[in-house]
Amino acid sequence: MKLPLPPVPTALQPKPKRPGEGERVKPLDQVKEAGVATVDWVDERTSLSGAARWVMFRKVPKGTNWFYTLGSASLFAFLSQAVTGVFLAMYYDPSITNAYESTRHLTNEIFLGEFVRGMHRWGSSVMVILVFLHMARTFFFGAYKYPRELNWIIGVVLLILTMTMSFTGYLLPFDQRSYWATVVGVNINGTGPMVGPFLSDFLRGGAEFGSTTLSRFYAIHMLLVPGGLIAMIGAHLYLVTRLGTTAPPWLRAKTAQKDTV
Ligand code: HEM
Repeated sequence: MKLPLPPVPTALQPKPKRPGEGERVKPLDQVKEAGVATVDWVDERTSLSGAARWVMFRKVPKGTNWFYTLGSASLFAFLSQAVTGVFLAMYYDPSITNAYESTRHLTNEIFLGEFVRGMHRWGSSVMVILVFLHMARTFFFGAYKYPRELNWIIGVVLLILTMTMSFTGYLLPFDQRSYWATVVGVNINGTGPMVGPFLSDFLRGGAEFGSTTLSRFYAIHMLLVPGGLIAMIGAHLYLVTRLGTTAPPWLRAKTAQKDTV
C-alpha cells in the first residue's frame, strides 16, 4: 500500500497561476486583443460605438429586396472614384501644355496606370447609371413621399453633383475628343434660360476656352464638387438612418387593405 505524501509547506507550494499565465498566446490573438483594446480606448473617450450601432444595426421593412442595394452601390462607386482619383492626381498636371502629356505618361509608363485610369473612367459611367437606377427605385417605390421629401431633394442635388463630376472630369485628359466634347457641352449650357450664358461664361472662365478653363474644371472636379458630394451624402445617409427605408408598395397596399376591412 502506498502512503499519502506529507503536505507541502505553503512557502514551498507552487504559486497559483495569474490569469493568462502559462497559456501559449498565439500572435493572431495578440493582434486581435490589440485591435479590441484600441477600439475600447477610443470608445471610452468618444462613445462613438453608439453612433456606429445606430447607423449599422437598423430594422428594415419586410419585403426589402435587391433593389434596396442600389443606394449602397452608388456609395461604393463614389468611394472607388475617390480612391482611384487620388492616385491619378499624383501624376496629372492641370496645365494646357502638360495635361495631355501627363495623362499619356500615366497611361503608358506608370505601373498599373492604365488600369487605375480605366477604373476611374468606367467607374464614372457606372456611378451615373447606378445613381439613376437608385433614383428610379426610390421613385417607383414611392420613397419620395412624406416624410422623405427632404431626402429626395438632397438626392436631386446628389444627381446634379454626380453629373457635374462626369462633365468636368471629361475635359481633364485634354485630347481632341475631350476638348471638343466640352466645347459642345459648355455651349449647350449657354442656351439655358436666364442663367445659361452666365453659367457658360463661368465654366469657360471668360469668353474663350483656355488655360483658365482647364484650371477651373480641375478645381471644380477635385475640390468643389467632391466636398459637396461628401456633405450631401452625409446628410442623405443621416436621414436614411433617422427615417428608415420605405416598405415595397405592394406590401403597403396589402396593409392598407387590411386596415380598411
Ligand atoms: C451619390 C449618390 C447617392 C448615394 C450614395 C445614395 C445613397 C443612398 C443609400 C445608401 C440609401 C439607403 C438604401 C437604399 O434605399 O438604397 C438611400 C436612400 C434614398 N435615396 Fe439615395 N443616394 C444617392 C442619390 C440619390 C438620388 C439621385 C435620389 C433621388 C433624387 C435619392 C433618393 C433617395 C431616397 C428618397 C431614399 C430613401 C429610400 C427609402 O426610404 O426607401 N438618392 N440613398
